[in-house]
Amino acid sequence: MENVRVGVIGVGNMGSKYAQLIANGRIAGLRLEAVTRVRPEYREKLQGALDAGLRVYESADALFAAVESGELELDAVVVATPHYAHEEQAVRAFQNDLHVLCDKPAGVYSRQARRIEEALAGREKKLVYSMVFNQRTNPVYRRMKEIVESGKYGSIKRVSWVVTDWYRPDVYYTSSSWRATWDKDGGGTLLNQCPHNLDLLQWICGVPARVQGFCREGKYHPIPVEDEVTAYLEWADGATGIFIASTGEAAGVNRFEISLEDALLVCEGGELRVCEVAGALGMREEAFRRTSADPFPKIRGEWHTEECGREEEPYRVILQSFSDAILHRGDPVAWGEEGRYSLYLSNAIYLSSWNRETVELPVPGSEEELRFEEAFEQGLKRKIRQYS
Ligand SMILES: NC(=O)c1ccc[n+]([C@@H]2O[C@H](COP(=O)([O-])OP(=O)(O)OC[C@H]3O[C@@H](n4cnc5c(N)ncnc54)[C@H](O)[C@@H]3O)[C@@H](O)[C@H]2O)c1
Repeated sequence: MENVRVGVIGVGNMGSKYAQLIANGRIAGLRLEAVTRVRPEYREKLQGALDAGLRVYESADALFAAVESGELELDAVVVATPHYAHEEQAVRAFQNDLHVLCDKPAGVYSRQARRIEEALAGREKKLVYSMVFNQRTNPVYRRMKEIVESGKYGSIKRVSWVVTDWYRPDVYYTSSSWRATWDKDGGGTLLNQCPHNLDLLQWICGVPARVQGFCREGKYHPIPVEDEVTAYLEWADGATGIFIASTGEAAGVNRFEISLEDALLVCEGGELRVCEVAGALGMREEAFRRTSADPFPKIRGEWHTEECGREEEPYRVILQSFSDAILHRGDPVAWGEEGRYSLYLSNAIYLSSWNRETVELPVPGSEEELRFEEAFEQGLKRKIRQYS
């Protein structure tokens, strides 16, 4: 295959960006073949391609029907529709032997992510399933992951991510009718803005074992879903953490700290600062803690800023890695299967908040996973009933 023929499903805010990048020849190996209905405010971006005869289908159904009838030949789709639709569209794409790049999150609840994976596993053809976790292309987060995984400073003691710079005024919530609803969006900031952070959290630090969540619905905006979240996290090896997010704080911050055995990593303002302690102590921190004769030592570590490099255009990198994975068997920025973990996290935080209890995250393929899915979906149904 020389070029991957792509259809973009859901041409709003994000889909129009992806379609434009492909239509403008910015992604080697991808050719834009079709889109679904283009929202009027995004038409201009695609005017050249539309004038040149780009095929436009009324809906995802119509696009897949054209593929199934042989009227439209595609190799891949990009799914950029509201969250509930991702499962159905990704599954139908796999049933038609199409590669899938799905925008985050993989769905509203983890069962949807599991069903997408099952549809993929059932195909004979080797298909690429990738997720748009574009923040993984940020060199600062990549460097954090490298440092943690290198083990250079020991294992994780504690994690803290305060991400309150997702500020949104009320107009954001009225800009698309599906936003900030339980029945169409599936949640608030946890599901809409935070999948990126939750993905990075599990990508860099591993999947937590249990969480306790506190979600405040409509605290800053007239919406029935949460616009503030506080979660306490615990990992199986004893590491602990907090995750705080808000769309109603100004000024907000985005400060991600990882405390390791012998260093503190602080990611803020696009910079990664590292404070090393072993050099200053003359020994590893644990040895110092065990042996110090001074009951009140002031530990001054040695700070430096990591050289992380410049960030390239994230969406271009995502699309290019998808193309390369199909054409040259490379690794995409994020494999689709990894989308399940951020959903475990968001689903568990909701469930914990609704039921006021600690929630254990399930292991994929376990009996607990089925119980977890069931419990979350029951809770979600209650929310939908409450607000419809
Ligand atoms: N990766 C990122 O940085 C990022 C940023 C924002 C949003 N997103 C995600 O992108 C997805 C879309 O969000 P958005 O902000 O572009 O929303 P949007 O409302 O601007 O666009 C969604 C589009 O999907 C269309 N659509 C809905 N159902 C459809 C169907 N059955 N068939 C065809 N088209 C259909 C709508 O008409 C609309 O044009 C969501 O999953 C969202 O979470 C990702």
